[in-house]
Amino acid sequence: MQTDPKTIKKQFEKSMADYDKNAVIQDFTADKMLSELLRFNNNFDAVLELGVGTGLLTKKVANTLNFEKYFGNDLIEKSENYLKKYLPSADFICGNALKIKIPYKMNLVISNAMFQWFDNLEKGLNTISEYISKDGILAFSTFTPDNYKEIRDITGLTLNYMSKNEIEDVLNRLGFKILYCEEFRKNIKFSNPLEILAHMKKTGVNSLSEKVWDIKKIKGFCDKYSQKYPELSLTYSPIIVIAGK
Ligand SMILES: C[S@@+](CC[C@H](N)C(=O)[O-])C[C@H]1O[C@@H](n2cnc3c(N)ncnc32)[C@H](O)[C@@H]1O
Repeated sequence: MQTDPKTIKKQFEKSMADYDKNAVIQDFTADKMLSELLRFNNNFDAVLELGVGTGLLTKKVANTLNFEKYFGNDLIEKSENYLKKYLPSADFICGNALKIKIPYKMNLVISNAMFQWFDNLEKGLNTISEYISKDGILAFSTFTPDNYKEIRDITGLTLNYMSKNEIEDVLNRLGFKILYCEEFRKNIKFSNPLEILAHMKKTGVNSLSEKVWDIKKIKGFCDKYSQKYPELSLTYSPIIVIAGK
């Protein structure tokens, strides 16, 4: 399905207060991405983080990496407060990550759990590649087609995910050298289907649908979920990539 930055912005803005407590998979990918990145480089002149959100990754970066200058970006204006909370001297660039103006090329572009919102990841990576200096690094996590497969099965709603092979092909075509690329499968268990909907809402993922569901639709979803997936688990399929330019 097509994603609309205005809807994404609205839904994430609503989820900000609950996000950090509920974003357990995003927390895992942020930690793992940083520990893998450290194997290649820990010192950067200029770093750009795309999709800062509530600063879940920013906080960890502040405790891990060395850099001279940090730029943080998000669609949501309020993200600036989170960025400055962890990195007071950072600069905030508000707007669509694929349309922003950056002052100069970056040695590291980093992003956690955000690129899945691009309608076309290939085009997105093409644009982002232009933000990175020669010998710079791109580190990101996103999700592959099995992500939320239960939701896709029941509602038909899904994002335009790319597979691990497709992501690797795109990066190779753009001239990147893949330093690390690993896909994971994680399941979160819930005690009832309403909790699954609440989990999605609290992590901003109800941006999948612009329309508010009425009681009948929610009941239909819950009944189908219990029937088809009685173990009440939700699949996440994150992928982490570190690539050199
Ligand atoms: C799942 S949150 C991830 C936040 C944070 N990176 C983390 O590690 O938890 C996705 C964030 O990306 C932002 N976002 C989504 N699409 C964007 C775009 N095209 N440009 C800039 N920010 C975007 C959303 O507003 C949201 O804050």
